[in-house]
Amino acid sequence: MASIHMAQRETWTSRIGFIFAAVGSAVGLGNIWSFPFQTATNGGAAFLVVYLLAVALIGFPTMLIEFVIGRRGEQNPVEAFRKIGHGQWSFVGGLGLFSSLLTLAFYSVVGGWVLSYIVGSATGSYFGDPGTYFGAVSAGPTAVAAHAVFMAITIGIVALGVTGGIERATTFMIPAILVLLVGLGAWATTLEGATAGYNYYLSPDFGVIANNFGTIVPPAMGQAFFTLSLGFSVMIAYASYLGEDDSLPADGGAIVVVNTLVALLAGFVVFPILFATGGAEGASGGAGTAFVALAGAFGNLPAGQIIGFVFFVVLLFAALSSSISLLEVPVSYITEHYGYRRSTTAVAAGVFIFLVGVPATFGTTWLGFYNDFVFKFLLPIAVLLLAVFIGWFADTDAMDELGRGSSVGGSFKTIWLWWVRTVVPIAVVVTLYLGIKALYTGLSSGAYFG
Ligand code: PHE
Repeated sequence: MASIHMAQRETWTSRIGFIFAAVGSAVGLGNIWSFPFQTATNGGAAFLVVYLLAVALIGFPTMLIEFVIGRRGEQNPVEAFRKIGHGQWSFVGGLGLFSSLLTLAFYSVVGGWVLSYIVGSATGSYFGDPGTYFGAVSAGPTAVAAHAVFMAITIGIVALGVTGGIERATTFMIPAILVLLVGLGAWATTLEGATAGYNYYLSPDFGVIANNFGTIVPPAMGQAFFTLSLGFSVMIAYASYLGEDDSLPADGGAIVVVNTLVALLAGFVVFPILFATGGAEGASGGAGTAFVALAGAFGNLPAGQIIGFVFFVVLLFAALSSSISLLEVPVSYITEHYGYRRSTTAVAAGVFIFLVGVPATFGTTWLGFYNDFVFKFLLPIAVLLLAVFIGWFADTDAMDELGRGSSVGGSFKTIWLWWVRTVVPIAVVVTLYLGIKALYTGLSSGAYFG
């Protein structure tokens, strides 16, 4: 059956189309919302340094792992493993699919908050009392309705197909995000808090890193995987629509660089805003504080209403260009495996995921635990398995695939393979150990459900 459906597989219309789609997946709430606030929570510039190292040294090589599997397999992330002759590893693709479902369920709830904040910026309704506004839109019927709208848009884009939906939407959204963020960053330089914000953001205190190694590394590594959409099978799915003449290292490099620039840029927008109205402390902490702190700042700044509106529109584009990639993982699997139509599948999977997300509209405690569970546990495990698989079980095929369509030399491939065999697994095991310890401490001290 698989071969019948394989014949109709779409491919990206152009190299840049693939890059936009993959950047769209990578650039999301993780860059613009979570990154500045994780930085604020974990000691400012110290976190930034560890995060950048994690992206370059572990994230980039891991992205190439997913690309190699996807393009070689030319199938959805579960069947790709079988196509390349290692069917017993399909569960790794399945694990990513599971993480995608779970993540989209909650991602869409937060996407719904963003929709409410766009409306709130237009009407000015959060300016008076940002805390109460957040409470009203993040839980209860408003949250459910906004979650439904966000999911409906996601379903609509995915139903239109890989080129007609995903590629077309991201080719519009990514340039828009870049232009608007640069504009916001330029505006932020004029704020009174700008210098203090930049200092906090950019002057690392290496003592802080040394003393807090165990608490900085797991979130930094988790953030690196999450922001690059690694461990979710998303990049396997996207690379499966690639042509042979694309250079995987060059495309991967471009995607990592643009994604990192967007996160850095988001910091240049958020920190001046926070320091103009108080400081970073108000923003460190759980999911909601970020929305409350920013909304509070917009309420107190000149032109805050229009700036707030633009900021949340950027956040919406970023969230949507990511959510479509999360939905594409189950949709690609179900359409290829069972032969159902894409549109029907997108609706059915989307509705199911919507229902899974509904409990997260009851309150935000759950979201914090869920976040840590994915960041500190599921993602590192998936990445560890991927690295062991490619490094030790499919190394010859992987080296061959990495070289196709690319001019990288043999030494790049050799170093990559060695790195994937040794450095990546060791780094991930250390992270996993530290992360599980932190999760356990959090659970037993009642930090989540206390
Ligand atoms: N990378 C996205 C972000 O930073 C999140 C995401 C993860 C999207 C996994 C797709 C897959 O927000």
